Amino acid sequence: MPDNNEIKEFDIFDVEDGELLKIILDSINDAICVVDENCITRYWNNAAEKLYNIGKDKILGRHIKEFFPNSLLPKIIKERKSYDNIYNNPREGCYNVISASPLYMNGRLVGGISLDRDATEFIKTSELLMKAQSNLNVLEHEMSIINKNRYSFSQILGNNRAFRDSIRLARDISRSNINVLITGESGTGKELFARAIHMESGREGYFVPINCSAIPHELIESELFGYTAGAFTGALKTGKIGKIELAHNGTLFLDEIGDMPLSMQPKILRVLENGEMTRIGSEKTIKTNIRIITATNKNLSEMVEAGLFRKDLYYRLNSVVINLPPLRERKDDIPLLVNRFIEDYCMEYGINILGITPEVLDSFVNHSWEGNIRELKNAVERIVVLARNSNTGVIDSSFLPQSLGGIRKTISAAKQDSIYDLNTILENAEREALINVMRISGGNKAHGAKLLNIPRSTLYFKLKKHNLEK
Ligand SMILES: Nc1ncnc2c1ncn2[C@@H]1O[C@H](COP(=O)(O)OP(=O)(O)O)[C@@H](O)[C@H]1O
Ligand SMILES: [Mg+2]
Repeated sequence: MPDNNEIKEFDIFDVEDGELLKIILDSINDAICVVDENCITRYWNNAAEKLYNIGKDKILGRHIKEFFPNSLLPKIIKERKSYDNIYNNPREGCYNVISASPLYMNGRLVGGISLDRDATEFIKTSELLMKAQSNLNVLEHEMSIINKNRYSFSQILGNNRAFRDSIRLARDISRSNINVLITGESGTGKELFARAIHMESGREGYFVPINCSAIPHELIESELFGYTAGAFTGALKTGKIGKIELAHNGTLFLDEIGDMPLSMQPKILRVLENGEMTRIGSEKTIKTNIRIITATNKNLSEMVEAGLFRKDLYYRLNSVVINLPPLRERKDDIPLLVNRFIEDYCMEYGINILGITPEVLDSFVNHSWEGNIRELKNAVERIVVLARNSNTGVIDSSFLPQSLGGIRKTISAAKQDSIYDLNTILENAEREALINVMRISGGNKAHGAKLLNIPRSTLYFKLKKHNLEK
């Protein structure tokens, strides 16, 4: 190995090394141009030929302004000043980033050098990105309007008294920062309530749900708190933002809080008490402003007794408890839910609103609905899909699934009798007539009232009564 003193820098004016220098400069991807003090082009590399589509034979020996009237080189020679990373748009659809400096030899100005980098792709990509960003803003705005409608309290159906009390309580505490614990079996509407509380709260941030039972225990911490770059093996190089930070100025919904590992509970308590958290692998405390809503289908106070849940956290969480009754305890709401879901799914699948026989409705009312409203909704969707091509436009028992049909056979004699109940029959006949007429009149109420031969106000009243208003 030669020692450092022996390594000689190339002498660019040496004939042999000059050849080598040319090879070096030609292998560079940036366009290089050298002019003398009179702005006559003296050097033009391969990349410049390619970028500007001008051959060396054409440009060498010519004044640079003949080819580039706005060239920076005459300017830097005149001003004896360097320019760095100037954006230039020499012709349409072509963008460059240019740096140029005067060249001195033995203290005397001999010319200038410019280095142009093609930034067309970069600029085009950023333009696309900006366009995508502004499209995203529009979509986000539209989504927030849709979400507002979809998740508002007005979309929560139910007239049952205990249930109305729960809605009232949830509405009342929406605009405060009180922590809310929503209890109830799976499918009773806990998440629906949490979203409605968030929407009503007017908080500007996101609603961020996390289901503690769906995430392996060892991953919950990184999901919630995020981590810094290289915090542990397998961590993303960029680090990752956690759900708590994501919910800043919004609402964090901790679903199935009963499954929150005991080891994590003190950290959750800290966030609840002063909004403070730390990313895994970081020392820095981050202050957040979040509203926390929790939900569980477990009996947390029993878990506290058994030492499976921290007492201090439990008392923090349950400032307000909203209990959602299972569907079998509010059977009076089932007809309303069934009819609304039928309408919703008919709209979604683009079919005429189907009617439902009293017999089928009875089966629905008498089913035990272990999966609560979620199960009911799925059952209705299935039936609507099956009945969409029925000739009668009515859902009868032939469309009932086995599980519901089985119930139908075991219903009590008293319930069986209800199909002969004149009031029920008249009510259903009225409902069907309304559905048919509204279909025929294309939703035009004035026309519908005429066909039914009743005043328009009566039609409004009846549509409301049967939950058919749109
Ligand atoms: N009162 C209600 N009115 C209308 N839809 C409801 C109601 N309660 C629940 N749902 C619907 O039932 C499904 C399950 O509700 P969800 O809030 O996810 O229940 P949970 O979180 O308790 O398991 C969702 O599609 C929801 O929109
Ligand atoms: Mg849920």
